[in-house]
Amino acid sequence: MIKKLTASALVVFGLSTSGALAAGATDTHIEDFDFSFEGPFGTYDVNQLQRGLQVYTEICSACHGLKFVPLRTLGDEGGPMLPEEQVIEYSKQYEVYDAELDDFREAVPTDHFPESNLETAPDLSLMAKKRAGFNGPYGLGINQFFKGIGGPEYIASLLVGYTGEEKEQAGVVFYENTAFPGGWIAMAPPLYGDDVEYADGHSTDLHHLSEDVSAFLMWTAEPKMMARKQAGFAGVIFLTVLAVLLYLTNKRIWAPVKRRMKEEN
Ligand code: HEC
Repeated sequence: MIKKLTASALVVFGLSTSGALAAGATDTHIEDFDFSFEGPFGTYDVNQLQRGLQVYTEICSACHGLKFVPLRTLGDEGGPMLPEEQVIEYSKQYEVYDAELDDFREAVPTDHFPESNLETAPDLSLMAKKRAGFNGPYGLGINQFFKGIGGPEYIASLLVGYTGEEKEQAGVVFYENTAFPGGWIAMAPPLYGDDVEYADGHSTDLHHLSEDVSAFLMWTAEPKMMARKQAGFAGVIFLTVLAVLLYLTNKRIWAPVKRRMKEEN
Protein backbone atom coordinates (compact mmCIF):
# COMPACT_ATOMS: atom_id res chain seq x y z
CA MET A 1 0.00 0.00 0.00
CA ILE A 2 2.72 2.42 1.02
CA LYS A 3 4.78 1.48 -2.03
CA LYS A 4 1.81 2.13 -4.27
CA LEU A 5 1.23 5.56 -2.74
CA THR A 6 4.80 6.73 -3.23
CA ALA A 7 4.76 5.52 -6.81
CA SER A 8 1.60 7.47 -7.65
CA ALA A 9 2.87 10.47 -5.73
CA LEU A 10 6.00 10.38 -7.87
CA VAL A 11 3.97 10.18 -11.04
CA VAL A 12 1.86 13.17 -10.00
CA PHE A 13 4.94 15.08 -8.97
CA GLY A 14 6.85 14.15 -12.10
CA LEU A 15 3.97 15.24 -14.31
CA SER A 16 3.54 18.56 -12.57
CA THR A 17 7.23 19.33 -12.62
CA SER A 18 7.69 18.56 -16.29
CA GLY A 19 4.54 20.54 -17.14
CA ALA A 20 5.70 23.46 -15.07
CA LEU A 21 9.13 23.40 -16.66
CA ALA A 22 7.68 23.30 -20.14
CA ALA A 23 5.35 26.19 -19.44
CA GLY A 24 7.81 28.18 -17.39
CA ALA A 25 10.57 28.00 -19.97
CA THR A 26 9.95 31.59 -20.99
CA ASP A 27 9.44 34.59 -18.83
CA THR A 28 5.69 35.24 -18.92
CA HIS A 29 3.68 37.56 -16.75
CA ILE A 30 0.36 36.32 -15.31
CA GLU A 31 -1.69 38.73 -13.27
CA ASP A 32 -3.53 37.27 -10.27
CA PHE A 33 -7.11 38.38 -11.02
CA ASP A 34 -9.62 38.18 -8.17
CA PHE A 35 -12.39 35.89 -9.43
CA SER A 36 -15.62 35.33 -7.49
CA PHE A 37 -15.31 31.55 -7.92
CA GLU A 38 -11.97 31.23 -6.14
CA GLY A 39 -11.56 29.46 -2.81
CA PRO A 40 -13.55 26.58 -1.31
CA PHE A 41 -16.78 28.64 -1.10
CA GLY A 42 -16.38 30.73 -4.24
CA THR A 43 -19.30 30.77 -6.70
CA TYR A 44 -19.83 32.03 -10.23
CA ASP A 45 -21.29 35.51 -10.48
CA VAL A 46 -24.33 35.14 -12.76
CA ASN A 47 -24.12 38.74 -14.01
CA GLN A 48 -20.45 38.32 -14.82
CA LEU A 49 -21.15 35.08 -16.74
CA GLN A 50 -23.81 36.89 -18.77
CA ARG A 51 -21.42 39.74 -19.54
CA GLY A 52 -18.71 37.25 -20.48
CA LEU A 53 -21.13 35.43 -22.77
CA GLN A 54 -21.81 38.77 -24.46
CA VAL A 55 -18.09 39.43 -25.00
CA TYR A 56 -17.58 35.91 -26.35
CA THR A 57 -20.60 36.24 -28.68
CA GLU A 58 -19.79 39.69 -30.03
CA ILE A 59 -16.00 39.36 -30.29
CA CYS A 60 -14.40 35.95 -29.81
CA SER A 61 -16.99 33.82 -31.64
CA ALA A 62 -15.90 35.44 -34.91
CA CYS A 63 -12.92 33.07 -34.78
CA HIS A 64 -13.25 30.71 -31.80
CA GLY A 65 -15.79 27.94 -31.26
CA LEU A 66 -17.16 26.29 -28.12
CA LYS A 67 -18.03 22.97 -29.68
CA PHE A 68 -18.21 21.00 -26.40
CA VAL A 69 -20.78 23.33 -24.82
CA PRO A 70 -24.49 22.57 -25.40
CA LEU A 71 -26.45 25.80 -25.93
CA ARG A 72 -29.18 24.65 -23.53
CA THR A 73 -26.71 24.82 -20.58
CA LEU A 74 -26.88 28.63 -20.83
CA GLY A 75 -30.13 28.24 -18.88
CA ASP A 76 -28.67 25.94 -16.21
CA GLU A 77 -28.51 26.65 -12.50
CA GLY A 78 -24.98 27.78 -11.64
CA GLY A 79 -24.39 29.09 -15.19
CA PRO A 80 -25.44 32.32 -16.94
CA MET A 81 -29.05 31.24 -16.13
CA LEU A 82 -30.69 32.78 -19.19
CA PRO A 83 -34.48 32.34 -19.23
CA GLU A 84 -35.70 29.60 -21.59
CA GLU A 85 -37.02 31.96 -24.31
CA GLN A 86 -33.69 33.79 -24.33
CA VAL A 87 -31.78 30.52 -24.78
CA ILE A 88 -34.00 29.74 -27.79
CA GLU A 89 -33.49 33.24 -29.20
CA TYR A 90 -29.75 33.12 -28.56
CA SER A 91 -29.40 29.74 -30.30
CA LYS A 92 -31.04 31.04 -33.49
CA GLN A 93 -28.04 33.23 -34.38
CA TYR A 94 -25.87 30.16 -35.04
CA GLU A 95 -26.02 27.89 -38.06
CA VAL A 96 -25.27 24.22 -37.53
CA TYR A 97 -24.84 21.40 -39.97
CA ASP A 98 -27.65 18.84 -39.72
CA ALA A 99 -26.62 15.39 -40.99
CA GLU A 100 -30.25 14.31 -41.40
CA LEU A 101 -31.16 17.30 -43.56
CA ASP A 102 -27.70 17.20 -45.15
CA ASP A 103 -27.81 20.98 -44.89
CA PHE A 104 -27.26 23.87 -42.52
CA ARG A 105 -30.10 25.08 -40.30
CA GLU A 106 -30.69 27.50 -37.43
CA ALA A 107 -29.39 26.11 -34.13
CA VAL A 108 -31.78 25.09 -31.34
CA PRO A 109 -30.93 24.78 -27.61
CA THR A 110 -30.19 21.04 -27.93
CA ASP A 111 -27.33 21.81 -30.35
CA HIS A 112 -23.83 22.72 -29.29
CA PHE A 113 -22.08 26.02 -29.96
CA PRO A 114 -20.40 25.85 -33.39
CA GLU A 115 -16.75 24.90 -33.94
CA SER A 116 -14.09 27.54 -34.56
CA ASN A 117 -14.66 29.60 -37.72
CA LEU A 118 -10.95 30.14 -38.13
CA GLU A 119 -8.94 26.96 -38.55
CA THR A 120 -5.95 28.32 -36.62
CA ALA A 121 -8.04 29.55 -33.67
CA PRO A 122 -8.31 26.82 -30.99
CA ASP A 123 -11.66 25.78 -29.53
CA LEU A 124 -12.18 27.61 -26.23
CA SER A 125 -14.58 25.18 -24.47
CA LEU A 126 -11.89 23.74 -22.20
CA MET A 127 -9.16 26.35 -22.58
CA ALA A 128 -9.49 27.58 -18.97
CA LYS A 129 -8.59 24.08 -17.74
CA LYS A 130 -5.98 23.46 -20.42
CA ARG A 131 -3.65 26.32 -19.57
CA ALA A 132 -1.88 26.96 -16.27
CA GLY A 133 -1.32 30.52 -15.12
CA PHE A 134 0.81 29.69 -12.13
CA ASN A 135 3.82 27.42 -11.87
CA GLY A 136 6.97 27.21 -9.79
CA PRO A 137 8.81 28.07 -7.74
CA TYR A 138 11.56 25.85 -9.15
CA GLY A 139 9.01 23.80 -11.11
CA LEU A 140 7.39 22.47 -7.94
CA GLY A 141 3.97 23.93 -8.69
CA ILE A 142 3.59 25.15 -5.11
CA ASN A 143 2.06 28.42 -6.33
CA GLN A 144 -0.85 26.42 -7.75
CA PHE A 145 -1.59 25.13 -4.28
CA PHE A 146 -2.18 28.65 -3.00
CA LYS A 147 -3.43 30.49 -6.07
CA GLY A 148 -5.11 27.71 -8.08
CA ILE A 149 -4.05 26.48 -11.50
CA GLY A 150 -4.67 29.90 -12.96
CA GLY A 151 -6.38 29.03 -16.25
CA PRO A 152 -8.79 31.99 -16.24
CA GLU A 153 -5.97 34.25 -14.98
CA TYR A 154 -3.88 33.14 -17.95
CA ILE A 155 -6.67 33.98 -20.43
CA ALA A 156 -7.34 37.36 -18.84
CA SER A 157 -3.61 38.16 -18.71
CA LEU A 158 -3.30 37.16 -22.37
CA LEU A 159 -6.06 39.59 -23.32
CA VAL A 160 -4.50 42.52 -21.43
CA GLY A 161 -0.90 41.45 -22.20
CA TYR A 162 -0.35 42.98 -25.66
CA THR A 163 2.56 45.40 -25.86
CA GLY A 164 1.62 46.87 -29.25
CA GLU A 165 4.70 45.44 -31.01
CA GLU A 166 4.17 43.39 -34.18
CA LYS A 167 6.41 41.39 -36.50
CA GLU A 168 5.88 39.42 -39.69
CA GLN A 169 7.36 35.99 -40.15
CA ALA A 170 6.77 33.80 -43.20
CA GLY A 171 3.71 35.84 -44.08
CA VAL A 172 2.12 35.58 -40.61
CA VAL A 173 1.82 38.59 -38.33
CA PHE A 174 2.76 37.97 -34.70
CA TYR A 175 1.87 40.26 -31.85
CA GLU A 176 4.05 40.63 -28.79
CA ASN A 177 2.28 39.45 -25.64
CA THR A 178 3.64 39.26 -22.10
CA ALA A 179 1.45 36.30 -21.07
CA PHE A 180 1.94 34.04 -24.10
CA PRO A 181 4.77 31.49 -23.81
CA GLY A 182 7.36 32.54 -26.35
CA GLY A 183 6.17 36.12 -26.25
CA TRP A 184 4.66 36.30 -29.76
CA ILE A 185 1.09 35.21 -30.58
CA ALA A 186 -0.67 34.98 -33.95
CA MET A 187 -3.94 36.38 -32.50
CA ALA A 188 -4.37 40.11 -33.05
CA PRO A 189 -5.48 41.93 -29.90
CA PRO A 190 -9.22 41.05 -29.82
CA LEU A 191 -10.12 43.62 -27.14
CA TYR A 192 -9.13 47.25 -26.64
CA GLY A 193 -11.72 48.39 -24.10
CA ASP A 194 -15.28 49.61 -24.79
CA ASP A 195 -15.66 46.89 -27.45
CA VAL A 196 -19.16 45.98 -26.23
CA GLU A 197 -21.91 47.80 -24.40
CA TYR A 198 -23.17 46.19 -21.20
CA ALA A 199 -26.84 46.44 -20.27
CA ASP A 200 -26.03 46.40 -16.54
CA GLY A 201 -23.77 49.48 -16.72
CA HIS A 202 -20.69 47.54 -15.59
CA SER A 203 -17.32 49.01 -16.59
CA THR A 204 -16.22 48.07 -20.12
CA ASP A 205 -12.53 48.91 -19.82
CA LEU A 206 -10.07 46.35 -21.16
CA HIS A 207 -9.39 44.90 -17.73
CA HIS A 208 -13.06 44.23 -16.93
CA LEU A 209 -13.94 42.87 -20.38
CA SER A 210 -11.02 40.44 -20.11
CA GLU A 211 -12.00 39.38 -16.62
CA ASP A 212 -15.64 38.79 -17.61
CA VAL A 213 -14.92 36.70 -20.69
CA SER A 214 -12.34 34.66 -18.74
CA ALA A 215 -14.88 33.94 -16.00
CA PHE A 216 -17.33 32.82 -18.70
CA LEU A 217 -14.69 30.52 -20.20
CA MET A 218 -14.02 29.05 -16.76
CA TRP A 219 -17.72 28.21 -16.59
CA THR A 220 -17.68 26.54 -20.03
CA ALA A 221 -14.68 24.47 -18.91
CA GLU A 222 -16.15 23.54 -15.55
CA PRO A 223 -19.94 24.14 -15.55
CA LYS A 224 -20.50 22.03 -12.43
CA MET A 225 -17.90 23.72 -10.25
CA MET A 226 -20.44 24.88 -7.69
CA ALA A 227 -22.03 21.43 -7.38
CA ARG A 228 -18.54 19.94 -6.99
CA LYS A 229 -17.66 22.33 -4.16
CA GLN A 230 -20.95 21.65 -2.39
CA ALA A 231 -20.45 17.90 -2.65
CA GLY A 232 -16.91 18.31 -1.35
CA PHE A 233 -18.11 20.34 1.60
CA ALA A 234 -20.81 17.77 2.44
CA GLY A 235 -18.12 15.09 2.23
CA VAL A 236 -15.85 16.89 4.68
CA ILE A 237 -18.69 17.32 7.18
CA PHE A 238 -19.68 13.67 6.81
CA LEU A 239 -16.11 12.50 7.39
CA THR A 240 -15.74 14.77 10.43
CA VAL A 241 -18.89 13.36 12.04
CA LEU A 242 -17.78 9.83 11.15
CA ALA A 243 -14.36 10.45 12.73
CA VAL A 244 -15.94 11.62 16.01
CA LEU A 245 -18.29 8.63 16.12
CA LEU A 246 -15.44 6.20 15.42
CA TYR A 247 -13.36 7.79 18.14
CA LEU A 248 -16.18 7.42 20.67
CA THR A 249 -16.90 3.84 19.54
CA ASN A 250 -13.25 2.94 19.85
CA LYS A 251 -13.12 4.39 23.36
CA ARG A 252 -16.19 2.47 24.40
CA ILE A 253 -15.05 -0.88 23.00
CA TRP A 254 -11.71 -0.73 24.79
CA ALA A 255 -13.04 0.78 28.05
CA PRO A 256 -13.60 -2.60 29.86
CA VAL A 257 -10.14 -3.83 28.82
CA LYS A 258 -8.50 -0.65 30.04
CA ARG A 259 -10.38 -0.83 33.34
CA ARG A 260 -9.25 -4.42 33.85
CA MET A 261 -5.64 -3.49 33.12
CA LYS A 262 -5.80 -0.68 35.65
CA GLU A 263 -7.22 -3.05 38.31
CA GLU A 264 -4.48 -5.60 37.65
CA ASN A 265 -1.71 -3.03 38.10
C1 HEC B 1 -9.59 37.35 -35.54
C2 HEC B 1 -9.67 36.06 -34.96
C3 HEC B 1 -9.66 35.95 -33.44
C4 HEC B 1 -10.47 36.58 -32.54
C5 HEC B 1 -11.59 37.58 -32.80
C6 HEC B 1 -10.11 36.07 -31.24
N1 HEC B 1 -9.08 35.17 -31.37
FE1 HEC B 1 -8.19 34.13 -29.87
N2 HEC B 1 -6.93 33.24 -31.18
C7 HEC B 1 -6.93 33.44 -32.53
C8 HEC B 1 -5.84 32.68 -33.13
C9 HEC B 1 -5.47 32.66 -34.60
C10 HEC B 1 -5.19 32.01 -32.07
C11 HEC B 1 -3.94 31.12 -32.14
C12 HEC B 1 -2.74 31.99 -31.82
C13 HEC B 1 -1.43 31.28 -31.73
O1 HEC B 1 -1.41 30.09 -31.43
O2 HEC B 1 -0.38 31.95 -31.95
C14 HEC B 1 -5.92 32.37 -30.86
C15 HEC B 1 -5.62 31.87 -29.62
C16 HEC B 1 -6.34 32.16 -28.47
C17 HEC B 1 -6.09 31.56 -27.18
C18 HEC B 1 -5.07 30.47 -26.87
C19 HEC B 1 -3.73 31.00 -26.50
C20 HEC B 1 -2.81 29.87 -26.14
O3 HEC B 1 -2.33 29.82 -25.00
O4 HEC B 1 -2.59 28.98 -27.00
C21 HEC B 1 -6.99 32.08 -26.31
C22 HEC B 1 -7.13 31.77 -24.83
C23 HEC B 1 -7.80 33.02 -27.04
N3 HEC B 1 -7.37 33.04 -28.36
C24 HEC B 1 -8.83 33.75 -26.50
C25 HEC B 1 -9.61 34.65 -27.20
C26 HEC B 1 -10.68 35.41 -26.61
C27 HEC B 1 -11.11 35.32 -25.14
C28 HEC B 1 -11.20 36.18 -27.59
C29 HEC B 1 -12.33 37.18 -27.47
C30 HEC B 1 -12.14 38.26 -26.53
C31 HEC B 1 -10.47 35.88 -28.81
N4 HEC B 1 -9.50 34.95 -28.53
C32 HEC B 1 -10.72 36.46 -30.06
C33 HEC B 1 -7.80 34.25 -33.25
C34 HEC B 1 -8.78 35.06 -32.69
